[in-house]
Amino acid sequence: MEKYYLTTAIDYVNGAPHIGHAYEKILTDIIAKHYSQRCDDVFFLTGTDEHGIKIQKTAAAQGKTPKELCDENSQKFKEAWKALDIDYTKFIRTTDDYHEKAVQHIFKKLYEQGDIYKHSYEGLYCSGCECFLNPKDLTEDGLCPDHLKKPEVVSEENYFFKLTKYKDAIIKHIKEHPDFILPEFRANEVLHQLEEIQDISVSRAKSNVQWGIDVLGDEDQSIYVWIDALSNYITAIGYNTENASDDFKKYWPVDVHVIGKDILKFHSIYWPAFLMALDLPLPKHIFAHGWITIDETKMSKSLGNVVSPTSVLENFNMEHPDAFRYYMASSAPCGRDGNYSDEDFKEKVNAHLANSMGNLLNRTLSMLVKYFDGEVKAEFKAENPLGKKALGTVQIVKNHFDNFEIAEAAQEIISLVDATNKYVQDNAPWTLAKEEKMVECGQVLTNVLDIMCIIASLIYPYCPNIAKDMARQLSFDLSTKLDDLTADNIKVGKLIEKEDIKPVFLRLDSELADKSAKK
Ligand code: ME8
Ligand code: MG
Repeated sequence: MEKYYLTTAIDYVNGAPHIGHAYEKILTDIIAKHYSQRCDDVFFLTGTDEHGIKIQKTAAAQGKTPKELCDENSQKFKEAWKALDIDYTKFIRTTDDYHEKAVQHIFKKLYEQGDIYKHSYEGLYCSGCECFLNPKDLTEDGLCPDHLKKPEVVSEENYFFKLTKYKDAIIKHIKEHPDFILPEFRANEVLHQLEEIQDISVSRAKSNVQWGIDVLGDEDQSIYVWIDALSNYITAIGYNTENASDDFKKYWPVDVHVIGKDILKFHSIYWPAFLMALDLPLPKHIFAHGWITIDETKMSKSLGNVVSPTSVLENFNMEHPDAFRYYMASSAPCGRDGNYSDEDFKEKVNAHLANSMGNLLNRTLSMLVKYFDGEVKAEFKAENPLGKKALGTVQIVKNHFDNFEIAEAAQEIISLVDATNKYVQDNAPWTLAKEEKMVECGQVLTNVLDIMCIIASLIYPYCPNIAKDMARQLSFDLSTKLDDLTADNIKVGKLIEKEDIKPVFLRLDSELADKSAKK
């Protein structure tokens, strides 16, 4: 694998980040960290989507200029991602100068080659979705089914994009590439939507939408926010219509766009059509994740149940975001909806990270100190009965990641932890020590520690801080690529002193947790 380029959706900055946004960025960061264990060149793009009527209206309601609102909220997204250890390579803002210019030229090119034309139009526009809705998709009361708001009647002369021209080519591409849209069950939905597509409006009258990128040479029109937004995936790596940068040549096509299921249509119909019109190759994969609910209810400002990711870290008084990352990433099977609840969070991370994984390492190292003064002797190195399973788990985890089955991969890692715990239980090194079978006892402990290195490596994308702590105590090099892992990772010699043994994850304090549940 030469390079791996992956992106998240860019978030609207009409509000602060919530845990639905965080879910997507965590998944993407985990995928990025996983592929960094398989390839040296990973480019991870995220950012904020800052134009359009929604931002314009929110700013006006708050008595701010749109740019002030964007600066303020974009910063909140950056801060949240920092707190969650989201290590993006680049953060794009659609108000960045280079992006605005590139988008103007993309629009101009499409116009000049006849893919964009002018047309008078009347339609129903939902500012929540930032798109025109088909009247037959509205609720009985005439509301947008996603935002439960009445769409606005918009009657304008706009620019239109010839989406219908690309319909057959997109259908063909989806049918010939079953892994283009993942999980696969979503592809049918898209094929169904494709049956009834029409050309789409790709500009808005400046009299209605001022907060957008101007159409070059037509001061009365601003470019439709979705053309602007989708283009970020290529402008961020240096695309322009004249000459592509070295980064663009290296990274495009993207390996995966990670997005939510609600914006699949834009990514698997509009975006491929724009790319075809620009004569660019299509993304390798589009991975649509599900929706995160809070205590099984949809998050919404009106319900007042919007949870910010940093408040979870604060309420549980967490030193690092690992537990939250782990919990969010395992909250739903691939592509399905997940849920966040304080109780479940506490229970799950205490069980998996503290009781199973953390204790296993702690107990094993403590026994190594107690019985062998922390030293691994040459005669402890024997055929490891867990080796085959552990290396098999590495392969299974890789396969899951290739299908973006992040929760499923986590489950495999925990199964390996469970199998290792069972091995300790079955072989009772404390009994072997009592019976003075010291070589056997040392072998059992060393076998476990060898597997713990593999576990540290596999858990790293989810829990980077815990994995670093584990690796330090095991003197294991965490930068080892997954394919270079063996069943023999622990070096012979002194491994650890008593005072250097430290639990890698403390159970979430129940008093603190209770406090947060009441909030
Ligand atoms: O759609 N659970 O921005 P956005 C899971 N700017 N994911 C959620 C979620 C939830 N409760 N709420 C939102 C936009 N998301 C556009 C994208 S990309 C070129 C432009 C996800 O702020 C949502 O599915 O409404 C999307 O992938 C991302 O957060 C940003 O949503
Ligand atoms: Mg949205």
